[in-house]
Amino acid sequence: MFEIKKICCIGAGYVGGPTCSVIAHMCPEIRVTVVDVNESRINAWNSPTLPIYEPGLKEVVESCRGKNLFFSTDIDDAIKEADLVFISVNTPTKTYGMGKGRAADLKYIEACARRIVQNSHGYKIVTEKSTVPVRAAESIRRIFDANTKPNLNLQVLSNPEFLAEGTAIKDLKNPDRVLIGGDETPEGQRAVQALCAVYEHWVPREKILTTNTWSSELSKLAANAFLAQRISSINSISALCEATGADVEEVATAIGMDQRIGNKFLKASVGFGGSCFQKDVLNLVYLCEALNLPEVARYWQQVIDMNDYQRRRFASRIIDSLFNTVTDKKIAILGFAFKKDTGDTRESSSIYISKYLMDEGAHLHIYDPKVPREQIVVDLSHPGVSEDDQVSRLVTISKDPYEACDGAHAVVICTEWDMFKELDYERIHKKMLKPAFIFDGRRVLDGLHNELQTIGFQGTHSCGPNVSNRFTETLTSFRKPVMSQWGKEPGKG
Ligand SMILES: NC(=O)c1ccc[n+]([C@@H]2O[C@H](COP(=O)([O-])OP(=O)(O)OC[C@H]3O[C@@H](n4cnc5c(N)ncnc54)[C@H](O)[C@@H]3O)[C@@H](O)[C@H]2O)c1
Repeated sequence: MFEIKKICCIGAGYVGGPTCSVIAHMCPEIRVTVVDVNESRINAWNSPTLPIYEPGLKEVVESCRGKNLFFSTDIDDAIKEADLVFISVNTPTKTYGMGKGRAADLKYIEACARRIVQNSHGYKIVTEKSTVPVRAAESIRRIFDANTKPNLNLQVLSNPEFLAEGTAIKDLKNPDRVLIGGDETPEGQRAVQALCAVYEHWVPREKILTTNTWSSELSKLAANAFLAQRISSINSISALCEATGADVEEVATAIGMDQRIGNKFLKASVGFGGSCFQKDVLNLVYLCEALNLPEVARYWQQVIDMNDYQRRRFASRIIDSLFNTVTDKKIAILGFAFKKDTGDTRESSSIYISKYLMDEGAHLHIYDPKVPREQIVVDLSHPGVSEDDQVSRLVTISKDPYEACDGAHAVVICTEWDMFKELDYERIHKKMLKPAFIFDGRRVLDGLHNELQTIGFQGTHSCGPNVSNRFTETLTSFRKPVMSQWGKEPGKG
């Protein structure tokens, strides 16, 4: 069997960095080099301050960096040396041309394929780790075939990554499954077995699933679509609960006890975020349309539409409760990352909630323990989010949560950071304008309702169609299931 001794990973991002660090950690005899065109990212991987935050990542990197784990910008050299090349580059939604706003932009994948074939001689296994549309491996193969040279033998595999940000190291060390797709030819199967042998260093054989290439590519898109659909399904039920007086938590518990349904991913929330769910579902929608399956496309599109609706609904709730205007009001936004334990803000619901509130002229004071100031400003300055000088006029980044809440009309929790459960809410309440409102978009304060009510906070799930009722409902909301309409199910990668 072909033995993999050297691995090159192109793309030192949220997937490439942690995945290859864990491979190096688990396989001391394999030399792993992670490369990227982004020099500052590589410098950060080689420094004490890693470019991404993941619990346990620093320890894994420090255990093998400089021994069998290397970070470099010398992409060509790393490709030349490697027995196996992972492609872990970004595959964002296209922002231009055909398929704009839905199709995956594969320009980075194509650039990698061209660079790999240019720098390869003899036998090499090339593995898609990025999430790609079905049959992307075919395009990679065509680029290889069109640029082939004597003795060159490049085998293409699909090995999608299922890690979730925030628990990446745990997921990589103990995955539910590892999926490897390859050609059904003897050559293809030889490559599949070589990659299986890498994972077998720490993953039980029965958890390593091998399939044909297209099943593997599609399984990643389908898995993310199913996860996103669960969140949109329970969020749709939350809207129904609010209109009827049912409690979405109680409904979720009741339906989740059915083993056929199961209790995971059943928390209503302010919507899913992250770089993957939306992008991958849109990609699936586009694929269905391209394959002339409009009914299937519409089915999955609704998962995205429901997520947008939930975010808008949450922002409207805030505005309604603050007496139908937030203009010139100070609102503290606690949490900007798309979920806890990551500094990643891609597609974070906080961005959308902030946008809706900025559109109404609210002054936002934003605090997040892991997201740098510059990142928040970049996210909110995007043309689709704000215009002109809105961000400089309306947004302040706070160094701590108390500063953010000082003098605020309302506190809005957008990320389920554990630290938000530990805050001194009495201190926060004292310095806020009264009535002081809390909107818990992630249900982090579930256990504190009585305490918050005693302090004097107003929560809300005011939902009735009757506007004159709202104030009363708001005032009594802590006695009712209050913020329970908003859960904390994080998005997944
Ligand atoms: N983030 C997640 O949780 C997650 C989980 C599973 C799968 N995925 C998939 O994995 C892929 C990577 O995601 P990510 O979050 O790590 O992205 P990322 O943006 O964090 O990292 C991608 C890196 O690739 C680099 N890159 C792009 N083109 C390059 C090239 N031609 N040569 C060298 N480097 C290049 C970029 O500079 C960047 O640093 C995507 O397809 C994504 O859908 C992501």
